[in-house]
Amino acid sequence: MDNSQEINYMRYIIGILAKKLLEKNKKIGDYQINNVCGIGSNGIVLDVTSLKNGNKYALKILNVSYYIIKKFNLNKKIYKEELANNLNDIENNIRNGNYYLASGDKDVYKNIKSDEELNSFLREYNSLKTLKSNKYCVNLVDYGFLNNNDGYIFPYIVMPYFDGVKLTEYINKKTNSTADFIDMLNIIEKIIKIIKYIHSKKIIHRDLHLENFLYNEENEKIILIDFGTAIYNCDFSVDTVGEIRGSRRLMSPEQFKNPSETCYFSDYYFLGSNLFYMLTKKYPYSQNRKIETQPNDIMKFLNYKVFNQRDIYDKIVYLINSLMAYNLLNRLKDLNEIEKIIFEIKSMLIKNKLDR
Ligand SMILES: Nc1ncnc2c1ncn2[C@@H]1O[C@H](COP(=O)(O)OP(=O)(O)OP(=O)(O)O)[C@@H](O)[C@H]1O
Ligand SMILES: [Mg+2]
Repeated sequence: MDNSQEINYMRYIIGILAKKLLEKNKKIGDYQINNVCGIGSNGIVLDVTSLKNGNKYALKILNVSYYIIKKFNLNKKIYKEELANNLNDIENNIRNGNYYLASGDKDVYKNIKSDEELNSFLREYNSLKTLKSNKYCVNLVDYGFLNNNDGYIFPYIVMPYFDGVKLTEYINKKTNSTADFIDMLNIIEKIIKIIKYIHSKKIIHRDLHLENFLYNEENEKIILIDFGTAIYNCDFSVDTVGEIRGSRRLMSPEQFKNPSETCYFSDYYFLGSNLFYMLTKKYPYSQNRKIETQPNDIMKFLNYKVFNQRDIYDKIVYLINSLMAYNLLNRLKDLNEIEKIIFEIKSMLIKNKLDR
């Protein structure tokens, strides 16, 4: 797949809408808008200041992709194609349009008619509201609803603002040097700690790809964001039947088959697929994977010569393959055991570096 096909048209359109909204809106609820700090494939994230306490927060407006699909009468199944084919028209329509958001009261969410849109809010809200401020992930500070001028209701959530870059951005700069391998394993260890934390709070995240971690290079802190796919307390009633959200290039086979049949172990799968990506900069699956598709073979992408030592290579391949076993029953399921193997690989890499 070439780069041009990889362009995310929805994100592009949401970016244009975000600019337009900012021209009209200087504040949302009790928050003054400073800037756009992120565009997702479903939401707009704003950097805001609370008018009540002066603190800076991140405010995420949800369901923007659903709005675009409705507003421009796109066919849900092939909206990416339709967006690509009508990009100029839709873009001009937004640029020339008059968009503003007005805060609605908290009860308006009862008026959100579609399950899909309500579920999208509830997944994020149900998970985040159970968390207190912590060092592993965002939590819910506030939430509300916005009515735009064509009557659409957007939920929004407010969370702590984190100063950092997407982990993908940081990882993409990493090379095949031993120091970089060790650094990437350190990051996987931090991700394991985050998984342990959210699982202890009964949250399955289901979208643990590197785009959903923010990394601060100065203090080396990592936090997990984007609970739009998450499930609290195994309540799968907030899944919309037939809808697959999350990164299909990385998710477990059971999640791809049926998101409502996932479990805590499905989150571990992302450890293997992220490690696969970190070491090869290639994804284990393509975007057009099918239910029966097996992941790419790590040995085809990762050359043993980069490690100078065959036993290091073998252990890494073993780790990735056991984390990504197609069948849940055969998968490595003990996080302490996984941490132990990572520690052993790191020790071997350090020793190998010293010996040279
Ligand atoms: N708490 C935060 N602090 C700072 N920036 C944030 C925060 N939360 C989100 N962002 C920024 O906004 C971007 C989009 O956020 P998020 O992933 O939650 O949106 P999304 O629409 O659910 O994304 P997608 O569906 O594409 O994964 C992030 O990549 C990040 O750059
Ligand atoms: Mg995201």
